[in-house]
Amino acid sequence: MKTAITEMFGIQHPIIQGGMHYVGFAEMAAAVSNAGGLGTITGLTQKTPADLANEIARCKDMTDKPFAVNITFLPTVNSPDYPGYIRAIIEGGVKAVETAGNNPSAVLPYLKDAGVKVIHKCTSVRHALKAQAIGCDAVSVDGFECGGHPGEDDVPNFILLPRAADELEIPFVSSGGMADGRSLIASIAMGASGMNMGTRFIATQEAPVHENVKQAIVAASELDTRLVMRSLRNTERVMTNEAVERLIEKEKRLGDDLKFEDIIGEVAGVYPRIMLEGDMDAGAWSCGMVAGLIHDIPTCQELIDRIMGEAEAIIDRLNAIR
Ligand SMILES: Cc1cc2nc3c(=O)[nH]c(=O)nc-3n(C[C@H](O)[C@H](O)[C@H](O)COP(=O)(O)O)c2cc1C
Repeated sequence: MKTAITEMFGIQHPIIQGGMHYVGFAEMAAAVSNAGGLGTITGLTQKTPADLANEIARCKDMTDKPFAVNITFLPTVNSPDYPGYIRAIIEGGVKAVETAGNNPSAVLPYLKDAGVKVIHKCTSVRHALKAQAIGCDAVSVDGFECGGHPGEDDVPNFILLPRAADELEIPFVSSGGMADGRSLIASIAMGASGMNMGTRFIATQEAPVHENVKQAIVAASELDTRLVMRSLRNTERVMTNEAVERLIEKEKRLGDDLKFEDIIGEVAGVYPRIMLEGDMDAGAWSCGMVAGLIHDIPTCQELIDRIMGEAEAIIDRLNAIR
C-alpha cells in the first residue's frame, strides 16, 4: 500500500509504532521496522543523550530499515537536555522524529536542516494546524481513545479524523484505538494516510517488556482504562489497577486542591517496575481502550502482515458492493 506516509518515511506499510516510555527500546523499533512499518525509539527513556546515541546504534545493528525517535516535551520544571537528544538523533543518522507534548518549534530548524522528517503527535485540530504552520512534515492525530495523554478536549477519532482531514494540508496518520485492518481502512476513509499504534504493539513477541504487561493487555476489556490527572490538566489514560484506584480516590477527596505531590507515589518513576519487573500494581501506566480489541501476542511481522491482509480483504469487499 502506497500513501503519502509510506513515501515520506520510506516504509512498506502505512503503520507507525508510537513512542512509548520503557517500551520503545531498540528491540521494539527494529521489530516494527523489519516488519515494514516505522518503529520508534523513545528518546527520554534513555537517561542521557549518550545513552540515546547508543540505543540508536543498537537499533541500526538490528535493522537496515528506517526507524524514528520520539521526543516528548514534558511539562516539567527541570527540562531534559533536549538539544543533546536532538544532536544524538542527527549524528546517529536517524531520518524520522515523532515529537509530542509541547510545541516542537525550538528543535524544528535543527531537524529540518539535517533532512529529518518530523511527525508531531497532537490531540486537537488547532494543535495540528499549529504543527503544520511551524513546518512539521506530518501529524499524528491522537483521539480520546488513545493510551497515554489524550489532551483535555475529549474528541474521539470518528470526529477528530474527518475534522483534521477538512483542515490540514500536510499528511496525517490516525492514532488512538487502532488495532487491525478495520482500523487502517477506516482511518484512510476518514482522510488519514496511515495509522499509529501504541498499546497494540506492546502485546507482541518482540516488545521488550515483562510478560505480565502483555498478559494484562490481552486480559483487559475496553472498560478497563481510566482517565487520571485531569485536575492537573495532564490527563492520562491508564490501565486500572490498585494504584490507579487509590489515585482516583485521592482525586475525588482532594478535588481541585490535588497537587502532583499528592499522587507522586502512584505516578512517578513507576515505569521500570511495571514494564521491566512486571509489578502490575506498582503505579499508573498508559494503556488505550483498544486493549478490548487485543486478544493475542503475535510477532510484529505476523501482526503487520495480518493487518495488511485484512485491509486488502476490506478493499475487495468494498469493490464488490460498488
Ligand atoms: C505504555 C505507553 C507509554 C507511552 N509513552 C509515550 C511517550 O513517552 N511519549 C509519547 O509521545 N507517547 C507515548 N505513548 C502514546 C503512544 O505513542 C500512542 O500515541 C498511543 O498509545 C496511541 O494510542 P493506542 O494505545 O490506543 O494505540 C505511550 C503509550 C503507551 C501505551
